[in-house]
Amino acid sequence: METLLTYIAVPFGSDMLLKCGITGKDLHKRERPVLPEATGLIAGIVLCLFLPRSSILLCTLAGLWIGALDDTIDLQWRYKLLLSAVAYVPLYQNLTTVLLFGNLIYLGPLYHVYMLLWCIWCGNAINIYAGINGIEVGQCLIIAIGLLWVVDDTRTIISFIGVCVALLWYNFYPAKVFVGDSWCYMSGMFFVAVAQHETESLAIMMLPQIINTLQSLPELTGYCECPRHRMPKYDENQDKLVTSGYGTLINVILRIYGPMHEKTLCIVLLVIQSVFVFLACVLKSQY
Ligand code: UD1
Ligand code: MG
Repeated sequence: METLLTYIAVPFGSDMLLKCGITGKDLHKRERPVLPEATGLIAGIVLCLFLPRSSILLCTLAGLWIGALDDTIDLQWRYKLLLSAVAYVPLYQNLTTVLLFGNLIYLGPLYHVYMLLWCIWCGNAINIYAGINGIEVGQCLIIAIGLLWVVDDTRTIISFIGVCVALLWYNFYPAKVFVGDSWCYMSGMFFVAVAQHETESLAIMMLPQIINTLQSLPELTGYCECPRHRMPKYDENQDKLVTSGYGTLINVILRIYGPMHEKTLCIVLLVIQSVFVFLACVLKSQY
């Protein structure tokens, strides 16, 4: 049902976004077509219709709001960080233990600092592991499938997966829509909320995003120049992507394996994501 509704709603919403001028150019195509941006907002609204009233719903909505603001008025970094921290409020609770390799660890007040960092990091991490067709939604789909084996609330995860599948249909190469920051921040907050007590597994599943963030730190902190886009370069003659030299995992993969077609690169990245998700599930079953 979630899949069907998203499948129907995205084209309708896309027309509306095009009319509002919320668009982006697909930079890795010869003709650079203009596509509707921020369709994650539409998918997010559909998802929230199916989530039960809970802290998960509130967090997901907060993520959606932050992303939608960013898509429309280009929020400054400091406001994005601040708002992501505020989105922790619905998750605040007195149980301050985390599970680490089967051991319950009592963190006390530090737990709140730890969770705040997760709220700030997760959506941003998805947003900066981006820039090629299908990767923003694809990575979320694979992480969500992994979470099915880790968290108890499978109904909620299945709703997320349902929405993901339909959105990926439109965002996979050659993309007909861009999902925007609304999708990235919403998914990040959703993951933190559903895996609040399973952050160990979530961290292993998101190791590609962790590596990508660490590599990005010099550019994000202003130590090195950080341009508007750090995505790979498009080589029109070969119709392939080549490394742009910026500190991203995507560039590392391109450096190791050489120039790749956009679709192949996306599939390679999703296979890497699946390996880490699988690893997290295996480790989870051991403890
Ligand atoms: C983040 C990244 C930026 C990357 C961008 C691409 C950092 C600090 N920021 O910025 O390096 O270039 O995401 O998503 O790492 N686009 C494509 N093809 C795609 C997806 C996006 O060409 O498959 C382009 C389109 O022009 C689209 C734009 O990227 O309009 C979206 O960028 P946006 O999400 O606004 O960039 P940021 O999240 O700010
Ligand atoms: Mg983005």
